[in-house]
Amino acid sequence: MLTRTLIPWWQRGYPAAVYIAAIMLAALSLSASAEPAGAVRQYQFVPADGRYQLALKEVPRPSAGPGEVLVRVHAVSLNRRDLNMLDNEYGDDDAYTGGIPLSDGAGEVIAVGEEVSRFVVGDRVAGIFFERWIDGPPSPDALVSDRGGNAGGMLSEVIVSHEDALVKIPQHLSYEEAATLPCAALTAWVGLFKRGSLQPGHFVLLEGTGGVSLFGLVFAAAAGAKPIITSSRDEKLERAIGLGAFGTVNYRKNAEWQRRVRELTGGHGVDQVLDVGGKDTLPRALETLAYGGHVALIGGLSGYGSDLPTDSLMWINATASGVYVGSREDFEAMNAFISQHQVRPPIDRVFDFEQAPQAYEYMRSADFIGKIVVRVGPGAANG
Ligand SMILES: NC(=O)c1ccc[n+]([C@@H]2O[C@H](COP(=O)([O-])OP(=O)(O)OC[C@H]3O[C@@H](n4cnc5c(N)ncnc54)[C@H](OP(=O)(O)O)[C@@H]3O)[C@@H](O)[C@H]2O)c1
Repeated sequence: MLTRTLIPWWQRGYPAAVYIAAIMLAALSLSASAEPAGAVRQYQFVPADGRYQLALKEVPRPSAGPGEVLVRVHAVSLNRRDLNMLDNEYGDDDAYTGGIPLSDGAGEVIAVGEEVSRFVVGDRVAGIFFERWIDGPPSPDALVSDRGGNAGGMLSEVIVSHEDALVKIPQHLSYEEAATLPCAALTAWVGLFKRGSLQPGHFVLLEGTGGVSLFGLVFAAAAGAKPIITSSRDEKLERAIGLGAFGTVNYRKNAEWQRRVRELTGGHGVDQVLDVGGKDTLPRALETLAYGGHVALIGGLSGYGSDLPTDSLMWINATASGVYVGSREDFEAMNAFISQHQVRPPIDRVFDFEQAPQAYEYMRSADFIGKIVVRVGPGAANG
């Protein structure tokens, strides 16, 4: 007579429910590890007359090796850097040929490789900007792991990523909203909260209504600070008021806009500056600074190369710090803040995947206020 252990499990006469549960578990584990076969569409940089163009290609679907995760990208967003790269402004001739553009994107985990412990199939994730900057100060190696540049980007229906280079996204955000976070939002967050130690009631100066500045605006407003924002267009300033601006200044109409900014603080000056303008804005921004204020050196929309008047910083006990996006640890801290305050990223317009080249041209137009997003693949509308 056969003992029970030698009889196959499906012939042992258990109740029907046991068999159904076993079949469902087997199906679930198959779907968790199986990687659907086939091709994926992605954009790649191709050289064109000293700059680059976006070419839509079909490539074999990647697979997840040990420690890696396969992500179906649902949405990506653009930063000024992406346009600069397309225009080959960083002086690395041919460096990006064949690479996948865009650092910022969000999607859903569809397969996990062996030894993956941070994610399971179905998790909603975003890529971190520097794939190898996890925490603490950055190493030289971490700073050459930028997505969409030295490392592969997000403008692809499916990407493979090391699990360490992803974060879970806040639950209340759609994929389109979460896709705006990795670069501009994190830069603003680090400038204000990590380097600047922003406090409720602080006056904050934001230059222009680009991506970094608008995130600075919504973060400062959520924290109970008083954001003052400049723009070349009154209609954009109107929109900024709707997003929580305490004060606004048109820098085209007011050549000496820094005086108006100081007036808006009642003479106190601003406690925090996110300087994205660089050469033309930094000297004026420093004139707005309050005693003990902080300026985050972030961008060069008007070029780099301002002389930093160290004596004027010294007399008022001010600090200046360079900010280059941030680490995964910073991203997770920012996400906690976004969830706590239910912050919603400002989005101007969402393009379809096939319209990605138009999204870049729209950024060039400067007619936008809020992030420019591209929806990737089918069924990407929401989280
Ligand atoms: N260090 C980092 O980690 C980091 C991260 C992200 C970005 N950046 C840099 O920061 C800068 C901003 O990036 P972004 O993605 O936020 O740019 P963006 O979204 O392209 O911002 C464009 C807007 O900036 C405003 N602007 C342009 N020139 C200006 C000037 N001279 N003075 C004041 N405002 C001006 C304009 O606003 P109005 O239309 O309202 O006038 C324009 O619409 C860029 O130089 C970028 O390379 C650095």
